[in-house]
Amino acid sequence: AEQEIQEYFDAAVDIARKAGHVVFEAFHKEKNIDTKSCGTDLVTETDKYIEELIIRTLREKFPSHSFIGEESASAGKKSVFTNNPTWIIDPIDGTTNFVHRYPMVAICIGLAINKQMEVGIVFNPIKDQMFTARRGTGAFCNGKQIHCSSVTDLSKALVITELGSSRDPEIVNVVMSNLRRLAEKPIAVHSIRLQGSAALNMCSVASGEAELYYECGIHVWDIAAAGIIVEEAGGVTLDPSGKPLDLLARRILAAGNKELADQVSQYLDCIDLPRD
Ligand code: IPD
Repeated sequence: AEQEIQEYFDAAVDIARKAGHVVFEAFHKEKNIDTKSCGTDLVTETDKYIEELIIRTLREKFPSHSFIGEESASAGKKSVFTNNPTWIIDPIDGTTNFVHRYPMVAICIGLAINKQMEVGIVFNPIKDQMFTARRGTGAFCNGKQIHCSSVTDLSKALVITELGSSRDPEIVNVVMSNLRRLAEKPIAVHSIRLQGSAALNMCSVASGEAELYYECGIHVWDIAAAGIIVEEAGGVTLDPSGKPLDLLARRILAAGNKELADQVSQYLDCIDLPRD
C-alpha cells in the first residue's frame, strides 16, 4: 500500500505542475469570466480547462478511482464521497485573485481513501510554491519540511479569514461580527488577514506564517488537500465550533494547535449552509 500511495502522490505532484504551467501562462492574459451562484462567485475558462485536464490524466492512470471537482459540481454533478479512493480537486483556489492578478492562487489535489485524506498537494504556480503532504510523513514546501506556529495565546495570534462570496446581508453580518469580536478588546488578536485562497490560508498556518484560519462557506475541494498539510505540519483541523471536522459541512478552523483552536471557537458564529 505504501508503494501505491507513493505512486498516487507522484502522479498528483506531476499533474499539479502541468496544470501550474497553464495557470501561469493564463495569469497575465485577458480572461473569459463567468459567474456561478452569484455575481461575486467567479469562474474562468482556465478553471474548467484545468479541472478537465487533471481528472482526465488521473482517471487514465487510476480508472477505478472516484473524483470530486469544483467545476464538475457546479455543472450539476453531485459530490459523492465514498470509501473508494477519491480525488478531491480545486483547479484554481482563489479564482477571484486569478481574475485580478493577485498572486495567491493554487491548484489543489487531495486523495482520500476510506474517507481519510492520504495525500494533499497545493501548488501556487505564481510564487512557485509546492506544498505537499502524505499521511504520517510530514508536510513540505518545495521539499523543505514545514511546521505550524507554537503560539497558544489567541491575543498573540495572526488570524486569517475570508469575506467569502456571499453578499447576503445576513451572512456578511456574521462574517463582520466574528471579525469585530476578534479585533476588539479584550481578545485583540495581533492582526487579521484576508488572502483570498482557503487552501493557501491553510498552507500559511502549516508554514507557521499565521496561527489560525477559519471560514464558513468554503467547499470540500477548498480544504481537503490543504487539511492534511496542516495536520502533517503539526496543526489541527476542526469545525469552527470546536467539534470534529466534517469535510462536507462547508466550515473550517485550522490552527497551529488545539489550545488555540479551543480558545477561538468560543468566539465564532457560523451560518448553517447546505452540505456539499
Ligand atoms: C474560494 C476561495 C476563497 C474563499 C471562498 C472559496 P475558489 O475558492 O478559497 O478564499 O473565501 O469561500 O470558495 O472559488 O476560488 O475555488
